[in-house]
Amino acid sequence: MHKESFLLILLSLVVFISWSQVNGQSLNKEKELLTTRRGEFQPLSYEEADQKANSVLASMTLDEKVALVGGDRTFFLRPIPRLNLSEVYMTDATQGVHIREKFRDVDLSKYQLEKSTAFPCPIALTSTWNPGLAYRYAEAVGEECRAGGIGILLGPGLNSYRHSQCGRNFEYFGEDPFLRARMIEEYVRGVQSTGTVATLKHFLANNTEFFRRKSNSIIDERAIHEIYIPGFKAGIDAGAKAVMTSYNLLNGEWCGQSDAVINNLLRKQLGFKWLVMTDWWSVQDGEKLARSGQDLEMPFAVALKDADKLMKGGRVKVQDIDRMAKSILRTYFAMRLGDRKKEPAYNERFADHEQVALQTAREGIVLLKNSGDILPLRKETGNILLTGEYVETLAMGGGSATVAGYNNRLMIDELRKEFGDRIHYVKKPSRDQIRSADVVLCNVGTSDSEGWDRPFELPEEQEKKVVECVQNNPNTVVVVTSGSGIRMTDWNDKAGAIIYAWYGGQTGNKALAEIIAGTTNPSGRLPMTIEREFKDSPGHGYLPEGEKLYSGWNDTEEKAHPVYDVHYNEGIFVGYRWYEHKDVQPLYPFGHGLSYTAFDYSGIATSKGKFSEDDVITVSCTVKNAGKRKGSETVQLYVQDVESSVPRPVKELKGFQKVELDPGQSTTVQLRLDKKDFSFWNPETKDWYAEKGKFIIHIGSSSKDIRLKKEVELL
Ligand code: BGC
Repeated sequence: MHKESFLLILLSLVVFISWSQVNGQSLNKEKELLTTRRGEFQPLSYEEADQKANSVLASMTLDEKVALVGGDRTFFLRPIPRLNLSEVYMTDATQGVHIREKFRDVDLSKYQLEKSTAFPCPIALTSTWNPGLAYRYAEAVGEECRAGGIGILLGPGLNSYRHSQCGRNFEYFGEDPFLRARMIEEYVRGVQSTGTVATLKHFLANNTEFFRRKSNSIIDERAIHEIYIPGFKAGIDAGAKAVMTSYNLLNGEWCGQSDAVINNLLRKQLGFKWLVMTDWWSVQDGEKLARSGQDLEMPFAVALKDADKLMKGGRVKVQDIDRMAKSILRTYFAMRLGDRKKEPAYNERFADHEQVALQTAREGIVLLKNSGDILPLRKETGNILLTGEYVETLAMGGGSATVAGYNNRLMIDELRKEFGDRIHYVKKPSRDQIRSADVVLCNVGTSDSEGWDRPFELPEEQEKKVVECVQNNPNTVVVVTSGSGIRMTDWNDKAGAIIYAWYGGQTGNKALAEIIAGTTNPSGRLPMTIEREFKDSPGHGYLPEGEKLYSGWNDTEEKAHPVYDVHYNEGIFVGYRWYEHKDVQPLYPFGHGLSYTAFDYSGIATSKGKFSEDDVITVSCTVKNAGKRKGSETVQLYVQDVESSVPRPVKELKGFQKVELDPGQSTTVQLRLDKKDFSFWNPETKDWYAEKGKFIIHIGSSSKDIRLKKEVELL
């Protein structure tokens, strides 16, 4: 045997063994079936891809280049058969593959999957506080893209949760930049490990859906860097190969054609070198577009429709078009997008994907309240009255992120599987029925979507029903299916228990039923604060004076609507940073979530009490499961700057770790901190700055439930 062959076999064996250990499945079959196995896909380096891009660019005509920089048939990168460049299909979204057979008469059936897994929405994924799960979730989405021949995933979406009314919060990763960053970097790695391009969207500050193409986000530099950018930075550092700009304007210019946003922030400051595309129909000015650092106008050339004329008039230069085309080609070659076609072999992985979806729902559902330990329901609980909005239909988010799913498990069926005929489903229960039930399971929810914002308050009918339930039966368990915070203020105190179940995807209701029955111990933690009243929120006041929320697609009105300013007056004080800074008590704080067991914290220690800028310090503590059930705790570390020359949040999340413990078991959690964890953005030097002095490290179970503290000093 040749030495090379022997080494190759040895290498395959090592990969084989370690992979099968990770996955716990037989690999032989997979090895034959899949072109790309876990983590195997390696993109070309920038230099290699650049070389290829250069050589193709050299043989392109100007017309071909112009054609390439505008999208094709709404969801394609344009093919150029003469040069062997294939079309590349792109589809949404973060929470799974959005299946489109047709779009405005474009036949997309060639890339249509028979089915795609509906995963719990990304805010539910974030509630798991489990970056490893984000990797597996995204890997599964990436594999489904491979099954459908989809080269570019139009996700992850990672705009910040600034206010609870934003219709797209369900698609995003919550209010905290650190948590978002840790989830996004793993998401990007997971998707791209399959060879599918991850697209970080929407850059930047697209935090409301109210006439979203007309909103001008006015934000100061510190907030941009401390709140809105870290998720993008983490995705870029993890190797993301695409970024989509947003619909809104930022400080007066549409992001998709803004030199400040793309050339300066994204390319120069964040060092992004790959494909930048516009959001669909979001730019108007070809000249600005071509100079902004933008590469690809989607869904087709609108601003650059008259590129010839613009070039003749000298407003767009050939070099600009060259730069755009080259950047597209670079990403195309780096990710080997030319060879994408349907790969049915990946269908074999769908069962595994469904398990990942289920695990995400199990870990993402948040138990907000559990008075008198009403949950889990006792086996002997007799008459369980079930009522609510999304009992016989699956609650899900709308718009381009919609994933219809398959094998969809409905709430009523999953609860019946657990509790049999003790479940009595009544659409409109009478007061007597509510009173006489041993337990009432009352579901409320919202239908959130891209394109519009929805009120913080529940629809009137639902609010009435839930109030009636809690007033007439103290054993009411409220199950919220929503993509964002809702107003619970009038029934929170009286409810026996409240479960935040999000949009759980196709298996979410199974996880929900397991949690109600106690076969799964809840471990989700809120990735945002839930306020008592919308007026408490940092985003309150974003609607132009005298205007009201609307629902449904509203293109004509949006076109006619003037640009309106959204002043981010709260600056860096977003989410819990706001509530703590203003001393406003929320209903449920960031990081909150209960378990059926209890955890004790002890023994905080730091590797150094005084440290210098170049040090890494390790913070450790012991966590013990002091209850009777196995369960998972998310240890959260917040840093407080005791004294600062600039306004700073009371504290900021800078570390977390989720640990699973048997009853009585304890473990030591170690979290690392370095200079950046103590820093703020200094607009004068345009850099991060760690100011010398004392800091307090807080460790706890939520932003409010702090169990341990220790002072350290930066010298
Ligand atoms: C959304 C994007 C999406 C695109 C293509 C737009 O309306 O804002 O997030 O990727 O459509 O479907």
